[in-house]
Amino acid sequence: MSFIIIAPPVPTQKWKEELELIAPEIPLVIGTDTDNPDDIICAMVWKQKPGVLNRFKNLKLIFSMGAGVDHVLLDDSIPEHIPICRVVDPQMAFSMSNFVLMAVLNHHRSLYNYRKAQEKKHWAQFEFEERNLKIGVLGTGFLGMNVAKKLHALGFQVMGYSTSNKETPFPSYTGVEMDTFLSQINVLICLVPYTPKTEALLNYDLFKKLTQPTYLINVSRGSVQVERDILKALDEGILNGAFLDVFEQEPLSAESPLWQYSSVQITPHIASLTYPKESVRQVLECLNLVKKGLPLPNKVDRKKMY
Ligand code: GLV
Repeated sequence: MSFIIIAPPVPTQKWKEELELIAPEIPLVIGTDTDNPDDIICAMVWKQKPGVLNRFKNLKLIFSMGAGVDHVLLDDSIPEHIPICRVVDPQMAFSMSNFVLMAVLNHHRSLYNYRKAQEKKHWAQFEFEERNLKIGVLGTGFLGMNVAKKLHALGFQVMGYSTSNKETPFPSYTGVEMDTFLSQINVLICLVPYTPKTEALLNYDLFKKLTQPTYLINVSRGSVQVERDILKALDEGILNGAFLDVFEQEPLSAESPLWQYSSVQITPHIASLTYPKESVRQVLECLNLVKKGLPLPNKVDRKKMY
């Protein structure tokens, strides 16, 4: 009975250290090279190449080394009977929501304008408004809900949109109410998973439905946004800025015009990171449940893709 990690060096090293600490008795294979593929019962993966899991005939559990699972599901050769689970971690939600708070608060109090003033040694008192924000969280899953609740607790006007009905202390929209949701907000925070339905969702047509201008924050997946349309919306004043942590192609090419926009903040897909200690604990717990034939927490619905 062995475990395998198939992922880039970061995060492999930390997960390996954590596993060796928590479960030193479990033999661990790094990468796909092993003479005993039949021993592998659990695979932890991040962007594995399609097909590489097929040689592990006794695999009982696949675990995504992050919150998103689009990278795992690109591989449609994974047999249906093998459960895929993902990390759902309060620490990750803490770090994601704080990241988004930072983006919102900087925009709220025009911090980038004060930064520019500072560079010119200019005392910009009373020059920038405290913006009246109407914040929409698109995708109130585990991470999105945490973001929305924190912003709401800070006193901001918050709205949520989700594919399912949610009990929330703020207005929530679902299904065909998307346009109503969009028309009321001037900050759009995107936290949807990447699925065929959300691909290119953040496009020009959607931007036009927002209160103008709107500030865009995307911390989900780059494939959800159309960068050409973001640039167009910025040029036309439909968007008054953007905070982007994810991109259609990562790393973002040096050629991308996004780098040049002073109203665009770029971070390199670091909004929230996976914490190996908790994640490894969840892998072991999941495997125990698989062995007992019990229901799994955070099992991915392959049709929904999250
Ligand atoms: C990171 O993007 C993740 O899905 O955890």
